Amino acid sequence: MSRRRRIYEGKAKILYEGPEPGTLIQHFKDDATAFNAKKHSVIDGKGVLNNRISEHIFTNLNDMGIPTHFIRRLNMREQLIREVEIIPLEVVVRNVAAGSLAKRLGLEEGTQLPRSIIEFYYKNDELNDPLVTEEHITAFGWATPQELDDIMALAVRVNDFLAGLFLGVGIRLVDFKIECGRLWENDMMRVVVADEISPDSCRLWDLKTNEKMDKDRFRRDLGGLLEAYQEVAQRLGILPEQD
Ligand code: C5P
Repeated sequence: MSRRRRIYEGKAKILYEGPEPGTLIQHFKDDATAFNAKKHSVIDGKGVLNNRISEHIFTNLNDMGIPTHFIRRLNMREQLIREVEIIPLEVVVRNVAAGSLAKRLGLEEGTQLPRSIIEFYYKNDELNDPLVTEEHITAFGWATPQELDDIMALAVRVNDFLAGLFLGVGIRLVDFKIECGRLWENDMMRVVVADEISPDSCRLWDLKTNEKMDKDRFRRDLGGLLEAYQEVAQRLGILPEQD
């Protein structure tokens, strides 16, 4: 139970009112969903690991001057974030063919792409998050051309950082998804990285064995999801705290 006002509840997270205006508390649940929530399960401890892994990544992004909504982790399941206006796009960056790209274009999973590819999906559960182009995004006003430029620049920088971070611990960054938001400060608006970056939103393969260390373990009924996320945390040197 919580005394705080709940602002929004998603499939894997809850947003509560924050302690100060312009802040929110992002709470990580243990729920695992796939295929637009057609598949659902609760995996004890997943939220704790994602909170910790996402904290590690967002702290590094902030330190590198890549703007994010993240302020600090509060406890095992919660982090303090800045309130942003979420841009209704899922921004996917791909380095290796997998998932929906492999299926759509008939590529073999694991094929290195000639260069990194950015894709946009319109965030809409009823429509199953359809793939959209820059033309759709600007024509329907989901983001301005300038915002779209900013989003792509952020996506490229996050990809460069994440690819290096994971390569350093023997993990191949196949693809990932970010969400971006508009943050107002002193009447100035800038686009920042929001939501989370965790094994729920990335494809991570062991460099040597190609073993999957991400949510595909759940999507494809491979089992061992918690152990895989724990291994990611361990390799990043951030074992979760015990209480
Ligand atoms: O399924 P697909 O191949 O399009 O997913 C690309 C990447 O985006 C994967 O890393 C997946 O985990 C992530 N993704 C996500 N949330 C979604 C859809 C995809 O985090 N709703």
